Amino acid sequence: MALQERVFSGVQPTGNLHLGNYLGAIKRFVELQGRYDCIYCVVDLHAITVWQEPAELPQAIREVTAAFLACGIDPTKHIVFNQSQVAEHAELAWIFNCIARLGWLNRMTQFKEKAGKDRENASVGLYAYPTLMAADILVYRATHVPVGEDQKQHLELSRDIAQKFNNDFARSIREHGYGEAFFPLPEPLISGEATRVMSLRDGTKKMSKSDASDYSRINLTDDADAIALKFRRAKTDPEPLPSEEAGLKNRPEADNLVGIYAALAGATRAGVLAEFGDAQFSTFKSALIDLAVAKLGPIGAEMKRLTHDPVAIDAVLADGAARARKLAGETMKAVKDVVGFVRA
Ligand code: TYM
Repeated sequence: MALQERVFSGVQPTGNLHLGNYLGAIKRFVELQGRYDCIYCVVDLHAITVWQEPAELPQAIREVTAAFLACGIDPTKHIVFNQSQVAEHAELAWIFNCIARLGWLNRMTQFKEKAGKDRENASVGLYAYPTLMAADILVYRATHVPVGEDQKQHLELSRDIAQKFNNDFARSIREHGYGEAFFPLPEPLISGEATRVMSLRDGTKKMSKSDASDYSRINLTDDADAIALKFRRAKTDPEPLPSEEAGLKNRPEADNLVGIYAALAGATRAGVLAEFGDAQFSTFKSALIDLAVAKLGPIGAEMKRLTHDPVAIDAVLADGAARARKLAGETMKAVKDVVGFVRA
């Protein structure tokens, strides 16, 4: 079977989307549309691996969808949907649960971080999370996966699962005429200046939805005043900015703010430092605030406008889900043949 190049990625509908989600993922989703067929998913099945309030989940799903659209993803040329509308994700995940090894999952650092000390009390879903992620990608036989740095280990696991499936079922794959390699080994696309955006309060910690302090992150729905206030309060060090990239070493807060500026401007750290080298943080922060407000302001405003019309958003999701289901259904039929299930 010829493998077509295809992009898949997902974002969880859990809490506010922030600058890390935007620069590390969604902004890059938008850029890839010109080169690939893309599938972008609101991964609600992943969200419920930790408790989600049922009364709030629909709004969270619609808000991520609104962010996709507001940032410039075109749901008519590409596919935008929420995961729970395509049952094949969960179906393939079960098969992958039987492919992945306990030892592989035991190595996942994100599970260790998220489960914390009370591991016995974490959901089974949180533990098996990476096999569902592999299913998300491979049910579309996607070849490229844009993500932030924090998802790298999960993608390596997806590759291991694809590889083991291809090996374990090599004979059956051949006998059913599905060629040599059934699943592609999906390639992570982790690049640019903001693959790991850090907290504004602590340059050694990742910017995250779950940080207790809202001052640690810029939310996509923050208005100009909030953006300005948060960057003004962002932690820095006493030195002016260096004029070369090497000077950012051991200066995590400076490195983070310069990286954010570079990513927002579509420039490199070196280019930003060529302009702002020797500047005081107060000067640099003013420029950063202007840039961030110019880039994020329209996105936040458009998100607000879109979320006022949930019916229109749900229609986008339903249409995307119908198209996704078609592709996923084809893969599942073939998977069932390969595994040896009897089907109609
Ligand atoms: P999630 O919802 O935590 O994050 C969505 C995307 O944002 C990126 N990201 C960041 N990038 C840079 N700096 C940060 N501080 C930062 N924080 C988050 C994430 O790397 C991600 O790309 N497991 C995934 C969702 C998922 C998925 C998939 C992704 C489910 N199935 C299949 C790709 C393919 C997650 O929890 O992302």
